[in-house]
Parts: sequence; C-alpha cells; structure tokens
Amino acid sequence: MPFEYGDVVILTDSRGKKYKVMLREGGVFTFHRGMVRHEDIVGLYDGSTVKSTKGENMLVWRPTYADFVQKMRRGAQIIYPKDIAAILILADIYPGARVLEAGTGSGALTIALLRAVGDRGIVFSYENRSDFLEIAKRNIHTFFKHASGEVGIGRLVLRPRDIYEGIAERNLDRIILDLPEPWKALPHVSYALRSGGILLCYLPTVLQVFKTAKRISRMKFEIMGIYEVLMREWEISGISIRPAHRMIAHTGFIFVARKRSS
Ligand SMILES: C[S@@+](CC[C@H](N)C(=O)[O-])C[C@H]1O[C@@H](n2cnc3c(N)ncnc32)[C@H](O)[C@@H]1O
Repeated sequence: MPFEYGDVVILTDSRGKKYKVMLREGGVFTFHRGMVRHEDIVGLYDGSTVKSTKGENMLVWRPTYADFVQKMRRGAQIIYPKDIAAILILADIYPGARVLEAGTGSGALTIALLRAVGDRGIVFSYENRSDFLEIAKRNIHTFFKHASGEVGIGRLVLRPRDIYEGIAERNLDRIILDLPEPWKALPHVSYALRSGGILLCYLPTVLQVFKTAKRISRMKFEIMGIYEVLMREWEISGISIRPAHRMIAHTGFIFVARKRSS
C-alpha cells in the first residue's frame, strides 16, 4: 500500500536519525537539512527515498512497533522495547489469552499485548489517572489506525480504576503489573488469576523486587524467575566494528510467578 494522507511515517536521514511525521495535506517536514513536503511522500512505498530541499536523501518507512512507541506522546514513562520483547515471552502471552495489565500508562505495553493476544484474545487495562488514559487511548488508536494498519488484534477494555481497590475480572490467564507498589494488588491478583496463570511484575528497583517476593512467598504462588535485560548495540563503520559508546543499561527487573492450585 502506498503512503496516504493521515499515515504516520518515519523519516531517517543519512546519519540514521529518525523523525516521526503524520502526513497532512499542505504539510511540510522541516529539519536542519532542509524541508520535505508531505505531498512528495504520498504515493510512495515503504522504504522509498525522498530528497530534502538541501539535497539530503531521506528514507521513508512505515514505523515499526519500537519506532512508534519510542516517539509517541508520553504521559507516564514507557517500558522500553527491549524489556517488552522479554515480557511477552516470559509472561507467555499467546493468541486467545485473557490478559490484564496495570497501569496503562502511555499504552506501550498495551499495544504489544493487543498484537500478541490476537483477535480471539482480550486485554483489560487498569489506570487510575484519567489524563494518562486519554494519552494512551490516542497512542493505541494512532498506532493501529495510522501507523501499522494491522488487523486481527485483541479486544481492549480500559478500566479507569485504582487496581489496589480490586479486580473485576476472574479466570485471567496472565496479569502484568507495572506499578509502584504491586504488592498492594496481590490479594486481588490471587483471586483474578486462574490456577497455572502467570503474574509478571515490572519493577525498576531491587527494593520493589524484595517486597514483592516477600509478600508473594506467603501466597499460592511459585516464583519462576527474576530477570534483567541488557541489550548492547554495536556500530559498524568500515573495518571498525565495536559496541556503541552509549547504552541504555538498567531499566527494570522482570519478576515472574505462577499461581498454584493450593
Ligand atoms: C510506569 S507507568 C506504566 C507504563 C506502561 N506500562 C507503558 O508501557 O506505557 C505506571 C502507571 O501506573 C499507573 N498507576 C499507578 N498506581 C496505580 C493504581 N493503583 N491503579 C491503576 N493504575 C496505577 C500510573 O498512573 C502510571 O500511568
């Protein structure tokens, strides 16, 4: 499908720097190496090249998930794509699953979950801040409608609630908590998760891991593992191939537990 007005695209310059642009009639993208008219992009295919007014060749792409979430509007801090990749496997998110997450935040994890559960699955997402929920709704809509154009995604139920006060759903397959004090939700998680279901908590600090582990060890859960994802990028320039100077190192711990039947 060629690009149309309303599409979100990623432009990359000759140094690999990425810019997110929504194509609008009469729109112009301006940067330090000139301008590109949106009308020059409409009709092109994914991976095409356009030239800026100062002669810079720019590649035009449909955004990947990682491009989109790193450039979308944020209310709360998002989970980085490197951690989301691990979360989807460690929480074993599968097509058709009934998944609950809290909090929705900016919607980065929500988008990944909706793709992973597919059109037979459902995602319940709790968030106690209405301003963040509005930002998340917009990000999720823009991703599926204007950036990826994907179909076959899961059903989304947004819950504007404090999860520490309770969980309405029962028999959930998976629960993912990205909250400051997940241990406060554990009594509700224990009712809402089915036996054999997986709870995954994303925790920035080790004290949060300690408190979660301590509380959960007195409940009907088995701790399956605690992980940290360190992903180092490498650079290539002629015969110089080496790790990049900068790295996003610690972001969060991934704590995984499974519910026992007794
Ligand atoms: C770090 S953010 C989540 C980011 C999200 N996972 C993402 O990838 O975009 C944590 C969110 O939890 C919400 N939150 C905190 N306490 C909550 C509670 N008790 N119930 C529901 N949401 C809560 C915050 O308002 C915030 O939006």
